[in-house]
Amino acid sequence: MRNLIEGNKRLAVAAVLLCISLFASVALAEKTGPVQIKNVSLNMEAIASRKWLPEYDQLTAAALNMRNNFSYAPYSHYHVGAALLGADDKIYTGCNVENAAYPVGICAEQTAFVKAVSEGCRKFKALVVAGSASDRKGSDFCAPCGMCRQAIREFCDADFPIILVEAAENGAVKSYKIYKLDELLMDSFGPDHLK
Ligand code: THU
Repeated sequence: MRNLIEGNKRLAVAAVLLCISLFASVALAEKTGPVQIKNVSLNMEAIASRKWLPEYDQLTAAALNMRNNFSYAPYSHYHVGAALLGADDKIYTGCNVENAAYPVGICAEQTAFVKAVSEGCRKFKALVVAGSASDRKGSDFCAPCGMCRQAIREFCDADFPIILVEAAENGAVKSYKIYKLDELLMDSFGPDHLK
């Protein structure tokens, strides 16, 4: 009889401890769980202010020239040209340069940045990208790949304009999209994090 009472006591203590630990873990989960952010609003100013500026004409011509005449894409047959306007008002151009060892290939945007930085320019005003498959002349919208977005982030502010151009065979602009860098690479990691 005495053993039975002792056994029930132990069972009751274990049950109470279990309840306490359950409540504690629920309370902790509430504190460390996802944070709800209220009042998120769209950046309407950024969305509203995209205009075609006169300098984009020259950048587009330069990007298409790179796409048509210099791109080295024997593997993907997708040709890309880029034109980067430096703060020094020079145009730094680039094209994709592929490699038989595929990952060694470099994108047009990165080529342009590498050329600019290696010539002493580290601040930029705008970037135009134009690309399309070999069997198409002109260009489609060619969105910068993820690696390019991060490469651009190294040297450019959140509102840096990136212009994607859809062009006809004769180079005439059919349509375009103007993005700001932080729309293509939101909440990004950059040089400031390492200061
Ligand atoms: N490419 C670029 O040059 N830029 C981009 O942002 C997208 C992709 C190139 C890399 C490769 O040579 C070819 O397009 C197909 O992926």
